[in-house]
Amino acid sequence: MDEQIKKKVLRMISYGLYILTTKKGEEIAAGTINWLSQCSFKPPLVMVGVKKDSNSYRLLLETKRFTINILGKDQKNIAQAFFGPTKRENQTLNQYEFYTTKNDGVVLKDCPAFFECTVKHIYDEGDHAVVIGEVVDVGLHNEQEPLYMLTTGWFYGG
Ligand SMILES: Cc1cc2nc3c(=O)[nH]c(=O)nc-3n(C[C@H](O)[C@H](O)[C@H](O)COP(=O)(O)O)c2cc1C
Repeated sequence: MDEQIKKKVLRMISYGLYILTTKKGEEIAAGTINWLSQCSFKPPLVMVGVKKDSNSYRLLLETKRFTINILGKDQKNIAQAFFGPTKRENQTLNQYEFYTTKNDGVVLKDCPAFFECTVKHIYDEGDHAVVIGEVVDVGLHNEQEPLYMLTTGWFYGG
């Protein structure tokens, strides 16, 4: 396989950008992700590629729950704020306000929408684990166009 072409071809896969959050007690991990897709209607399932050496993955393995915060088209700044470690100060994560749901899910106030998942299966094969989550609750703050990876000029894949 030609490595250069492989990179180009795999980077032609279309993605959105999201903030994945997990919480155990007072500890919260949050990270920007793009490897996400719905993969079943009934039950409603999503699959996410989660970096195995990330804090998000460590917490997700313990809690078997996670929340996906969907970014709006003008929220590149929020995506950027969650590339690194998560710093919690009172009700903010990396300076963005959050609230917790009845399921103890962590929701960023500024994001237009979110969904909460329970982990159904983990396929542990590569440097990222494929986490299959069942969508158990959803929330819509305001309906707007989501942020697409292509418009950011960033790449994660290839
Ligand atoms: C553009 C971009 C897209 C990313 N997509 C993913 C992804 O799909 N899955 C993932 O696990 N990490 C992804 N990351 C890396 C995480 O954002 C990063 O590892 C995480 O926020 C670090 O958090 P930690 O404190 O949990 O280790 C991406 C990073 C960038 C710059």
